[in-house]
Amino acid sequence: MGKKFYIETLGCAMNVRDSEHMIAELTRKEGYEATDRLEEADLILINTCSVREKPVNKLFSEIGVFNKRKKEGAKIGVCGCTASHLGEEIIKRAPFVDFVLGARNVSKITQVLHTPKAVEVDIDYDESQYAFGEFRSSPFKAYVNISIGCDKQCTFCIVPHTRGDEVSIPADLLVQEARKAAQSGAKEIFLLGQNVNNYGRRFSGEHPKMNFTDLLRRISEIEEVERIRFTSPHPLHMDDEFLEEFARNPKICKSMHMPLQSGSSRILKAMKRGYTKEWFLDRAAKLRAMVPDVSISTDIIVAFPGESDEDFEDTMDVIEQVRFEQIFSFKYSPRPLTPAKDYEGQVPDEVGSERLARLQARHNEMLDEMKSGRIGKVYEVYFEELRPGGKVAGRTDNNWLVQVEGSEELLGRIVPVKITETNRLSSQGVVVA
Ligand code: 5AD
Ligand code: SF4
Repeated sequence: MGKKFYIETLGCAMNVRDSEHMIAELTRKEGYEATDRLEEADLILINTCSVREKPVNKLFSEIGVFNKRKKEGAKIGVCGCTASHLGEEIIKRAPFVDFVLGARNVSKITQVLHTPKAVEVDIDYDESQYAFGEFRSSPFKAYVNISIGCDKQCTFCIVPHTRGDEVSIPADLLVQEARKAAQSGAKEIFLLGQNVNNYGRRFSGEHPKMNFTDLLRRISEIEEVERIRFTSPHPLHMDDEFLEEFARNPKICKSMHMPLQSGSSRILKAMKRGYTKEWFLDRAAKLRAMVPDVSISTDIIVAFPGESDEDFEDTMDVIEQVRFEQIFSFKYSPRPLTPAKDYEGQVPDEVGSERLARLQARHNEMLDEMKSGRIGKVYEVYFEELRPGGKVAGRTDNNWLVQVEGSEELLGRIVPVKITETNRLSSQGVVVA
């Protein structure tokens, strides 16, 4: 019987890809197989997120449960951003943990596996040219990391301390990876980085000058690639050249994530985001003017230290003006190692909860208005997943989730679908042959 691993992945798309990289290493070099039954695993991995406090607290209770349920002799490894941030402390607090592997060290998974109580969390470690084995969770879509780390110093964010300075992965490696994936059936390439449109700012070796717009062009030249998505871009780096390429290039999916964080220029300054409310609105307006059907999503933090009622109204004003398709909204959570945790004017929790509820309620109303306009229209849907009850799910170019009645034969195909029903999260439709 081969050895088995169980893996739980929390957090962002970057973590999903890091898990895929670890899975590739474990299967290729160590002969492991995946299992979704914890009790039969020889190795249990948890790939963590530390961007807010809640998941960090959850980690220790969760690994306690893993330790009780695991089979005798099974190893437990804690990976990802919380591993980078807490390092040895994890083993001190939970001595049954066998190793700790930081978010920027995942290529060392097969080493730490054989080193009792290993703690590999160096945030200067350079994995930008490491050739990981191939593994994809979906045969139809390939995640490709284009950079590691983040050079920004947003004052609320722990990520630069867990993933280190930003280094871009050489373009030739990325094109090669995307081509291989597309030729084996992944029509959609999903480019990932903490700040994708800062691509090319620093490479670890010699590299011709190149920015994110150039990279998008190169990926779109691969014949088998039909759709390109990316996350997360930074509003500050949304220059005209980038927006024009986004609009012009038919392979680039027309959904854009524009993490606003706050609509108040005063708060944006305290967050060190590098743009103002006016800049953000200008970029969103330009994008809409060029691509009227674009869907724009965002991240918003409410109750950042010093946020007054007036500042919050600025955020509400931006959501009225931009009409986001999706808003990931969070109450500010003070994080270790970040300057904002020591700022004056920490906002009481109840005020944060009220603001969050108001923002979400208004956004839900807006969504209901926006979504009803879709009924009866036809969109190209890329089908990726079978769902219970004889349904198949896929996404439109602008990232709406659509389900139709159908079977495997739709998987991996891009097909026109007429929308018949819609709610906030997804739409139903019928294939128009
Ligand atoms: N508190 C609340 N939300 C945060 N985010 C990052 N750091 C914090 C924090 N300290 C949010 C931001 C970011 C998203 C991934 O998580 O909105 O864009
Ligand atoms: Fe954090 Fe800002 Fe970097 Fe995003 S851009 S990962 S919010 S520091």
